[in-house]
Amino acid sequence: MPNTVIELRGIKRIYKMEGKQGEEAVVVRALRGVDFSADAGEFVSVMGPSGSGKSTLMNILGCLDKPSEGTYTLDNIETSTSSPDTFAYIRNRKIGFVFQSFNLLSRTTALENVELPLFYRRREKEEKRQTAGDRKERAARALREVGLEKRMDHYSSQLSGGQQQRVAIARAMVNDPAFILADEPTGNLDTGMTLEIMGLFQELNSRGKTIVMVTHEPELAAYTKRIITLRDGELVSDKPVTERRSALDDLAAWKKDHALLAEAAS
Ligand SMILES: Nc1ncnc2c1ncn2[C@@H]1O[C@H](COP(=O)(O)OP(=O)(O)O)[C@@H](O)[C@H]1O
Ligand SMILES: [Mg+2]
Repeated sequence: MPNTVIELRGIKRIYKMEGKQGEEAVVVRALRGVDFSADAGEFVSVMGPSGSGKSTLMNILGCLDKPSEGTYTLDNIETSTSSPDTFAYIRNRKIGFVFQSFNLLSRTTALENVELPLFYRRREKEEKRQTAGDRKERAARALREVGLEKRMDHYSSQLSGGQQQRVAIARAMVNDPAFILADEPTGNLDTGMTLEIMGLFQELNSRGKTIVMVTHEPELAAYTKRIITLRDGELVSDKPVTERRSALDDLAAWKKDHALLAEAAS
């Protein structure tokens, strides 16, 4: 039996905005009853037009927000009824966030950025025995997994956009989360770096990491294994990717074209 990591049942999210004096309150039904589940090892794209509910769904999946109705079970923990403390614990330990804007601390080395999530663990009894050396070793391991072993002591400002996103991915993985939640992770990167990052995600996924990625680009969704599409707050399609592309093959082809173009121009 595959291990179910994410289970959403009948998820509704209603935003209520108080009307100005004399006006009626406005109600927005951002999610209208979404059912979705994902097993360990999946790589899912969330697509849909602007306003369809992607960010609302992301916030719920990331335990940044609770649904108005419905249940969300993450790694066998029921989140909807959990206390604020448990909810925060689940967010810190079970989810690895990757954002479009990397969100690294600038005057901080790659290694220190990746160590950060480990400090939040100290509340837990067992974790108090974790030494500075243990933390450093874990962070270094995560940086090796994203191919940045030679850049550990570089400051964020000394790294390219693609390298900064690798640091962010290492930081997302350092706590060994149940899944990685990526929101337009290549939105700030050029074509070459985008393909590198998608290649890294494919490699991490082939090693068993579970990934959920929001994207509005079908070309990027083609590197994942499954695409769900939202429209007007409803999940209108859920399909496996049949002709999955290899981002590293596409990167090699793109580099070759670039070299030819450069040659022709010189
Ligand atoms: N905090 C909020 N308050 C009120 N309405 C919101 C809020 N966030 C989103 N919405 C509304 O909910 C709907 C879904 O928005 P969103 O989840 O941001 O969609 P997407 O990310 O796909 O563009 C939209 O109609 C949007 O205007
Ligand atoms: Mg959005």
